[in-house]
Amino acid sequence: MIELREVSHSYEGKLVLKDISVRVGMGEKVVLLGINGSGKTTLLKILNALFFPDRGKYLYFGEEVSKKRLRDRSFKRRFRSEVALLFQNPDVMLFNPTVYDELAFSLRQLGYDEGKVRERVLLWAEVFGLLPHIKRPPFELSGGEKQKLCLACLMVLEPKVLLLDEPTAHLDPRTTGWFIDLLWEFKGMVITSTHNLSLAEELGSRLLVLGEDHGLLYDGPVKEFLKDKEKLLKAGLLHRHGGKDYHLHSF
Ligand SMILES: Nc1ncnc2c1ncn2[C@@H]1O[C@H](COP(=O)(O)OP(=O)(O)O)[C@@H](O)[C@H]1O
Ligand SMILES: [Mg+2]
Repeated sequence: MIELREVSHSYEGKLVLKDISVRVGMGEKVVLLGINGSGKTTLLKILNALFFPDRGKYLYFGEEVSKKRLRDRSFKRRFRSEVALLFQNPDVMLFNPTVYDELAFSLRQLGYDEGKVRERVLLWAEVFGLLPHIKRPPFELSGGEKQKLCLACLMVLEPKVLLLDEPTAHLDPRTTGWFIDLLWEFKGMVITSTHNLSLAEELGSRLLVLGEDHGLLYDGPVKEFLKDKEKLLKAGLLHRHGGKDYHLHSF
């Protein structure tokens, strides 16, 4: 289980996460919803220990994830192999000369022997349909292929926790469907951020909504939230223009 206890975070004095308390259990599929700038990426980066909150605590299976704790090499190795974050922008993740090396990178970093690296890389390249591209440089791939490669780079670790930051942003409708199936087949915990209300129900069964004030506005079933016009308005997810009544947009 992972838990945030009264977590707040600011950048240069500007509050972007306000007093967030939440627990997520193994196997849960959670959607993190909020308008641009509401703090979704910041929250996922904290859960991935890329940085630490100004206030409050982050507990990973009961252990506090702090700068000090991550100096312990065995904890760091365990944490880095179990918790994987897909960045919002796939280009920032890809820097290796070939698709094979890209898939192998984190396994090599974690000290796996080359035999095991090869086995995992080929297995996940096949699942993701990347075998035909295995020798190509990642920058040559299309946007959707890059997104698939980034996701495969996480799956080679066979993690317990997947943190996905707007993963469907670069996928076409068919690949989005394929991705949603993959997500539900995964047995571990998944937290997926999106600002796309129309996908929320397919990406998870539990919804966390960050409000415009950067606090946790809602934690509960996806369906209940979609019926609550007042909360939708408060989250900035419902709006009015052109003289029409309040309505939703799918992006
Ligand atoms: N490294 C940073 N330095 C300063 N401000 C930042 C930084 N990263 C994000 N922000 C700001 O924090 C707010 C929340 O950003 P973010 O977590 O990326 O939100 P979201 O992912 O929901 O769009 C935004 O106003 C953004 O401009
Ligand atoms: Mg973001």
